[in-house]
Order: sequence, then structure tokens, then C-alpha cells
Amino acid sequence: MFETLIWLKEVSSTQDILKEGNYSKGTVIVADIQKRGKGRKGRRWESQEGGLYFSFVLKEEDFKETLQTPIVVGYALSEFVEHLGFRTGIKWPNDVYVAGKKLAGVLVEKSGEKIVVGVGLNVNQASFPKDIEGRATSLRLIAGREFDRAELLLSLLDFISREIERYMREGFEPFHEKVERKLLYVGEEVVLLSEESKVGTLRGIDREGFLLLETSEGLEKITAGDISLRLPHQL
Ligand code: ATP
Ligand code: BTN
Repeated sequence: MFETLIWLKEVSSTQDILKEGNYSKGTVIVADIQKRGKGRKGRRWESQEGGLYFSFVLKEEDFKETLQTPIVVGYALSEFVEHLGFRTGIKWPNDVYVAGKKLAGVLVEKSGEKIVVGVGLNVNQASFPKDIEGRATSLRLIAGREFDRAELLLSLLDFISREIERYMREGFEPFHEKVERKLLYVGEEVVLLSEESKVGTLRGIDREGFLLLETSEGLEKITAGDISLRLPHQL
């Protein structure tokens, strides 16, 4: 599914390049450094040299469920990291954690009829800025060695295209249990932050990928779009 790879030295954000330009489906834009790397909800994605930062385009008709797309890509990322030999957890909907720290994230944005998917994977960073130091990790920090980013990228794109193609063929069904098995904080008390916050015990995800939370009102399916999941001590 990926045909063209454009590798740039320094950009504002690989997301914006794809959103603004007229690139065909199948184009992947990679950058060594992003000056304005974006996370979810306008947050910053620290994009110093050493990480892998890339985006690609999907057509809207292929992806009706905007919640499922990031989950599928996050799952592919976690499978990729496990194939390198590290145990991962998925923080719903799509962050990949290793040993309690965030290793990678996925951002999916709609722009006209395009869906732009961005992936940030920390690879060779030896340290992070103070504000995220305690929460972020890289493959180098975990493995104690450096990695060839081009080699990693090609292999990761294979993982992503395999899982996206499976999703297009079979829908979300095959991902439901597999993602749930890797889900972090199941059975723990969590806080969901959106327009109205909710506290409850995380029970898993349903067949569509929505989070299941047990609150004082019973088992609730969380359908609000813009949710951040926190542990009580992270508030
Ligand atoms: P949620 O998606 O539940 O809101 P989150 O707190 O991880 O979770 P995101 O918007 O997904 O928020 O990701 C951006 C956040 O990730 C930033 O606010 C920062 O805390 C952290 N972060 C930024 N850059 C990196 C990086 N390179 N590696 C790991 N974490 C990072
Ligand atoms: C998150 O966890 O909030 C998602 C982080 C997504 C970061 C990637 S890096 C490549 C692409 N370009 C961006 O500006 N963001 C995404």
C-alpha cells in the first residue's frame, strides 16, 4: 500500500505537509526533525533528531470508523515493537508503552476527504526534555544500543500495511481481542477526561473499539470522541 517514500531533513510537521499538499495515497513523508510536531488535541510531539516521524494518507471511503483506524495503526506499532523483542502495552486508543513509558504515538486527522495518519516512534534519542523525561522512552534507552532508522521504517511500514489490509478485509473483529489483551490499566481505576470527566474501572473495549468503563451507573460504553485517559495520580 505504500509506493513512494519522501525523506526530509527538517519540517514543521509531516502531518501538515500531507494535509496541504496534493500527494497521492501511498505516499509516506518522513522527517529527521519536526519543528512543530503535533500530538493529539493540539499537544506538542517532541521531535528531536533520533526519532522516526512519518505520515501517510488514507482515503476516507476506506475508513468510516475514525476511532478504529488509530487503534489498528497503534496495534501494528505495538506488534512491530514486540517483534524487536520488547513487551508493549497499548494505552487506549493508540499510544504504545514499554515498561510504563510512552514509546510511540499515532495521530489521525481528517482534512477534506483525506485521512492523514501520523506516527511518532522514539528510536535513538538518548534523553528527552525535562517536561516529558519521566514519561517518555526510546528503543535506544530500552535496548542499550542504536537502531538503523531506515531499516526500522521499512519493516514498520510492512507491519502497518499488513494490519490495515486485514482491517479493510475483515473489519475490526480480528482486532478486538488482540488489542484488549494488550490494553493497559484493565481492572484499574481510571479517569476519562473529555467535556465531562468520568471515573470508573476500565473493563476493556467493545467490538467497535469503544472503551468500556464500569462506573457507579454500571458498565458504560464511552463514545465521546476526544478522550484522554489518566490514572488518578496523573491528574
Ligand atoms: P492522551 O492521548 O490520552 O491524551 P497523552 O497524554 O499521551 O495521552 P497525546 O496528545 O496523545 O497525550 O500525546 C502528546 C503528549 O505526549 C505530550 O503532551 C507529551 O506529554 C508526550 N510526548 C510528547 N512528545 C513525546 C515523545 N517524543 N515521546 C513520548 N511522549 C511524548
Ligand atoms: C500522540 O501520541 O499524541 C500522537 C503523536 C503523533 C506524532 C506523529 S510524528 C509524525 C506526525 N507528524 C506530527 O506532527 N505528528 C505525527
